[in-house]
Amino acid sequence: MKPLWIVTYLAAAIGLYHQPLWTIEEIPFVPTPIEVVDRMLELAEVKTGDIVYDLGSGDGRIVIRAAKKYGARGVGVEMDRELVELSRKKAAEEGVSHLVEFRLEDALKVDVTPATIITLYMLPWFNAKLRPILQQQLKPGARVVAHDYGIEGWTPTRVEKLPEIEKRPGGALHQHTLYLWRIE
Ligand SMILES: C[S@@+](CC[C@H](N)C(=O)[O-])C[C@H]1O[C@@H](n2cnc3c(N)ncnc32)[C@H](O)[C@@H]1O
Repeated sequence: MKPLWIVTYLAAAIGLYHQPLWTIEEIPFVPTPIEVVDRMLELAEVKTGDIVYDLGSGDGRIVIRAAKKYGARGVGVEMDRELVELSRKKAAEEGVSHLVEFRLEDALKVDVTPATIITLYMLPWFNAKLRPILQQQLKPGARVVAHDYGIEGWTPTRVEKLPEIEKRPGGALHQHTLYLWRIE
């Protein structure tokens, strides 16, 4: 084999080896069932003084629930304008508008330094991009709870498979998995 071929072959092999296991695709709105939200909040041990950031907050259910059940403050970050409006309306109906806010923003660009708890129901590529931001911005004692998808390269403090198996449209069965990390 000629030297250039060897270099090209090695570069291709290394490139393939370093390919991430995920692909970037749009993340749709799929709400976390409310019983699963409750378990996420329990795992994170939400208390009154906490500030919960849900990145990709959908209809706002996680931060609204944390405010309603525990009196925690919350920030929902969501890219879909209609979902942000719906979240604000739901927060008002639940009487927690003074505790929560919803921002129409890219969740990968938001400053999460005030957060004591981060909740996620996002795809692996998003979680992987978020990891260095969390590493840089979260303070010791903060908790991260993710639904169904872990964070590549980050070993969770705890993984919990929920006992209830959900039947999805089309008959597919789904077992929810929750991941917890504690920042040290
Ligand atoms: C699977 S849903 C989860 C909703 C909510 N967190 C829950 O668990 O019920 C993901 C949400 O993230 C939003 N989203 C996707 N990419 C986003 C981004 N870069 N920044 C903010 N929101 C995003 C989608 O519009 C969608 O509402």
